[in-house]
Amino acid sequence: MKSIVVKNPDELVIEDRPLPAPAAGEVRVRIKLAGICGSDSHIYRGHNPFAQYPRVIGHEFFGVIDAIGEGVDSLRLGQRVSVDPVISCGHCYPCSVGKPNVCTSLVVLGVHRDGGFSEYAVVPAKNAFAIPDNLADHHAVMVEPFTIAANVTGQVNPGKNDIALVYGAGPMGLTTVQVLKGVYKVRQVIVVDRIDERLAMAQKSGADTVINNREHSLAARLIEEGIQPTLIVDAACHPSILQEAISLASPAARIVIMGFSSEPTEIIQQGITGKEISIFSSRLNANKFPLVIDWLTQGLIDPDKLITHTFDYQQVADAIEVFEKDQRQCCKVLLTFPS
Ligand code: NAI
Ligand code: MN
Ligand code: ZN
Repeated sequence: MKSIVVKNPDELVIEDRPLPAPAAGEVRVRIKLAGICGSDSHIYRGHNPFAQYPRVIGHEFFGVIDAIGEGVDSLRLGQRVSVDPVISCGHCYPCSVGKPNVCTSLVVLGVHRDGGFSEYAVVPAKNAFAIPDNLADHHAVMVEPFTIAANVTGQVNPGKNDIALVYGAGPMGLTTVQVLKGVYKVRQVIVVDRIDERLAMAQKSGADTVINNREHSLAARLIEEGIQPTLIVDAACHPSILQEAISLASPAARIVIMGFSSEPTEIIQQGITGKEISIFSSRLNANKFPLVIDWLTQGLIDPDKLITHTFDYQQVADAIEVFEKDQRQCCKVLLTFPS
């Protein structure tokens, strides 16, 4: 089989590898589609502190089960599946409280273990989620990015009366906007970014108000309109944003952060306690695949609005370059594998 391998930082090759056999409790997936995410580019460029090399990257992937290991139901052969990249132990403290996404022995496919940018991948059977017949392949491959938004929103129980502010209109901000509007029916969703084309995509995904904070002061604009957001999601993840969010938030607001910056952030406690603000963080997803598959089946979210490019997997280097360099035109880039 052909696999896309990052041998070392900045060294990406398409390699011939032996077809893997699934071990007990595993299935082999013949990959049809995969999505490129920021973390793939970070591993490729040597900017992901968790990555080990060589690595088959890719944690957003969809395909068909073509072999099963011992103990796996033979009815699963031929099943169309999306794969949850989060592999957890099931018995540590975080696993016991429903947070396998921060398992003490967490393994993420495509980061700590070979992932889905390959003609075939072997994964735990319980990580391969069946896709209903009426869900298209290109929707199935988008389950994982929406699970990030499901996890973010799942921390804060959004309601119709929330006024939400989302920082960043990249793939993560946009999936969050779609979930806030489509699933939770939040009355007002405001999106702030520095790129007009991305803000236009946010409007397409349901944002009610967009603000370009390269051109305008976000604080001035919100004060002028008398808006105090009750729910803020930081999907831009610059270290300076949290303090701004605290200062703009309504009393009793919730803030969700999802960044991995190692730079310090200076925050003023009075701004948090004075308004009794709750600050949550969100990493990956905790068992959100079934929920997102249900949202897709009900048509509450629409991946078509996010998919901007599709490449043959052999063009993966070009695909990653477009993804990295063309933030104005580019949101989700898919790779197709031969079927
Ligand atoms: P992206 O880079 O495509 O989007 C970020 C957007 O934020 C860009 O459009 C940029 O113009 C905008 N931005 C940057 N600084 C800003 C500022 N000060 N004010 C307003 N907008 C600003 O990234 P993507 O893929 O959407 O991911 C967003 C962030 O989420 C990344 O930092 C990534 O590391 C993180 N992430 C976290 C995950 C988690 O599970 N916690 C999962 C996936 C991504
Ligand atoms: Mn991803
Ligand atoms: Zn665990």
